[in-house]
Amino acid sequence: MMSQPMSAMHEPLLRIEDLRTYFRTRMGDVRAVDGVNLTIQPGETVGLVGESGSGKSVTARSIIRLVPTPPGRYAGGRILFHGTDLLTLPEREMQELRGDKISMIFQDPMTFLNPVLTVGEQVAEAIRRHQRVSRAEARDRTIELFRTVGIPNAEARYDAYPHHLSGGMRQRVMIAIALSCEPELLIADEPTTALDVTIQAQILELLRSLQERFGMSILLITHDLGVVAEMCRSVAVMYAGRIVEQAPVETLFSDPEHPYTIGLMNAIPRADLPEVPPRPIEGSPPDLLRPPSGCRFHPRCPYRQDICQRVDPPLQTIAPGHHSACHFAGQGTFARPALASADMGRVSPEQVVSAAPEARR
Ligand SMILES: Nc1ncnc2c1ncn2[C@@H]1O[C@H](COP(=O)(O)OP(=O)(O)OP(=O)(O)O)[C@@H](O)[C@H]1O
Ligand code: SF4
Ligand SMILES: [Mg+2]
Repeated sequence: MMSQPMSAMHEPLLRIEDLRTYFRTRMGDVRAVDGVNLTIQPGETVGLVGESGSGKSVTARSIIRLVPTPPGRYAGGRILFHGTDLLTLPEREMQELRGDKISMIFQDPMTFLNPVLTVGEQVAEAIRRHQRVSRAEARDRTIELFRTVGIPNAEARYDAYPHHLSGGMRQRVMIAIALSCEPELLIADEPTTALDVTIQAQILELLRSLQERFGMSILLITHDLGVVAEMCRSVAVMYAGRIVEQAPVETLFSDPEHPYTIGLMNAIPRADLPEVPPRPIEGSPPDLLRPPSGCRFHPRCPYRQDICQRVDPPLQTIAPGHHSACHFAGQGTFARPALASADMGRVSPEQVVSAAPEARR
C-alpha cells in the first residue's frame, strides 16, 4: 500500500500542481490538460465546470491514471494525494489505490458495467478485489450497498444483468461499485447528464447524502452550474486545458473574477429573470493543437488588452480560497453578471434552470 510521509499530515487530500496531459496525433500534440492547478480538501465537494473539450474528463482520468498511454502522456506536473505524487507510483500500487482510496463514476454506466455479469456479481467482485471476505460476505455487503444507494428489491436485483435495469438504476449500481470500498475521493464525471431530470435530482441527492454519511471528498464534473450551486462547496472553472478560476461557490456566483466565468454565467437562462436573455459567449473554444498565445481566452474576451496576447496570466490568489488566471482580476474591472445580484447569498436551483447552452455542444 501507499505510504504516507509525515510531511503529508497537513496536506489537502488532493493537490494537483501544473498537470500536463498531452495526446500525440499526426498533427502534433493535443494539449488537453496544460497546467492544471486544483486543490480538494478532505470531505469537500469540488465542482469542475467548463465547455465541452476543455479537459475536464482528461483531468479526472489523469488523477486515477486511466488516460490511454499512448496516445496520451503525462507531460508534467504532480498529483499529490496525501502528499504522495500519484504520477510516480508504480502501476501495481496505483491499481490498489484505484477503487480503494479513489474511485470514479462515469457518465455512461453501460460502458463501465460488464454486460455478461450480473450487477450483484460485479459489485461483489469489486468488494473482493480490495477486501478479504468470503463470497457469501461479499454478497451480503453488496445487497446492503444496493439498499444504501436506493435500489429497491435489493436481493432480487443482485441477479439482474445491466440491460435489465433502467439508466437510473444502472447509475446506482455504478455508485455502489464506487462506494464498495468507502473511498476518500470519489470522482464523478457527469454522473447525471444521461438521465432525465427527476432521476438526475435523485442521484444528486443520493451523492449528497452519501457524502455526508461517509465524509468522502467528491470531484464533481458537470456542465451544469445549477448542479454546482446545489452540491459544491468550491468550484473550479476550466478553459482550454487550464483552471482559470477557483473559489468557494457563493463567491464564484456573487463575485466572479474571470471574464470566462462571467461569460458562462451570462449564458445561463434565468427562470426568475425572463427579461434578462441569456447571452452565449461569442466565438468558439480554441484548437488545443495550437492554443492562442498569452491568455488562451483572449480571442473571445471582451476585456482583453495588449498584454493579454503576449503574457500568459498565472493563477493568482486574489482572496483566501479565491484564485483567478486573469491579468485584471481583483481590480474591479468586470461588470457583474446578471446572475450575481447583491442580495443573492446563494444561487437556488430555481434561479439556475440549466447549464450554459453554449457549453452543451
Ligand atoms: N485519446 C485522445 N486522443 C486525442 N485527443 C484526445 C483524446 N482524449 C481526449 N482528447 C482531447 O482532449 C481534449 C479534452 O477532452 P475532455 O474529454 O477532457 O473534454 P471535457 O472537458 O471532458 O469535454 P466534455 O464536456 O465534452 O466531456 C479534447 O480536445 C479531446 O479531443
Ligand atoms: S487576461 Fe486578458 S484576455 Fe485573459 S481573461 Fe483576463 S482580460 Fe481577458
Ligand atoms: Mg468529459
